[in-house]
Amino acid sequence: MRVVVIGGGTMGVGIAHRVAASGGHVEVVDVDEDAAARSVRRIGESLDTAQVRGKLDDAVEAKSRLKPVGSIAEATTAPDFIVEAVVEVVDLKRSILGEAETLEPSVLGSNTSSISIDELAAGLSHPERFVGLHFFNPVWAIPLIEVIKGTSTNSKTLASVSALVEFLGMEQAVINDAPGFATTRLGVVAGLEAVRMVEQGVAHPVDIDRAMSLGYRHPMGPLMLGDLVGHDVRLGIATHLASVYGDRFEPPELLKQMVRDGRLGKKSGIGFYDWSSGSPVPIDPAVSEPDEVV
Ligand code: NAI
Repeated sequence: MRVVVIGGGTMGVGIAHRVAASGGHVEVVDVDEDAAARSVRRIGESLDTAQVRGKLDDAVEAKSRLKPVGSIAEATTAPDFIVEAVVEVVDLKRSILGEAETLEPSVLGSNTSSISIDELAAGLSHPERFVGLHFFNPVWAIPLIEVIKGTSTNSKTLASVSALVEFLGMEQAVINDAPGFATTRLGVVAGLEAVRMVEQGVAHPVDIDRAMSLGYRHPMGPLMLGDLVGHDVRLGIATHLASVYGDRFEPPELLKQMVRDGRLGKKSGIGFYDWSSGSPVPIDPAVSEPDEVV
């Protein structure tokens, strides 16, 4: 299995980790050689950690299957899969997908978490080979790929995706194209409402998260999940879904302010929790009683 991952950020690192750990060869493309090399170093570190935790037999061997690449044009042609995982911006994704197509992959996938696959496919020469491959963070721990079938996606492409899912030891849920698909549309509604509740003083973030994780058995609460996803990513998704579905996805002012302040969550060290130690620490655990419900 030969895979090219374009965009070596949070998700690109995770996807490349999973492919390399499963025995596949991965080229990781980022904005330049240095950025790609940094991504490959991060993947290497996470493969080492997986071995220490007993989840991978041979990290050295897995790392030997990784290659940093400074531009799409320098990647090897005719890979089995290309997975685009750059930031959630329609025009950027479109231009990258158009360029990626020139490598003639058997399947071209996008890890978009909210943008319509048909919208991204407009302008592609082979939309029948294009499909949404929505992985979840952290990719090495969450076994789902939400597979988004565009209007033009053909059965050969879906069969190849099934083979990839099996190769990676994952599971798939196939969804017809609609912005936000199934998971993002539902998850973002809960995430935005939780931010609005903090904004309105309904409860401390820790209590909101505890309520959902214990009461509804969610593995983590919606605010901690937002910290892990990245509030800049969440804001981009909410803005896009609001443009499609209207007010119910309108991002709350607190979310916009957090992004302006660089409180992006785990990746910036602070969000609704303090992540500077690597683990989530409540920022002001003393304030666990609501002052005033608006
Ligand atoms: P990120 O910001 O961590 O990484 C994006 C990467 O793309 C960066 O390394 C950046 O240098 C690179 N990049 C930007 N322009 C590029 C270009 N022209 N050529 C090559 N590389 C370029 O973003 P993240 O969180 O990894 O998200 C990527 C995609 O995955 C987005 O579409 C997002 O919506 C989606 N997604 C994110 C999830 C999350 O939990 N963060 C979960 C599932 C999907």
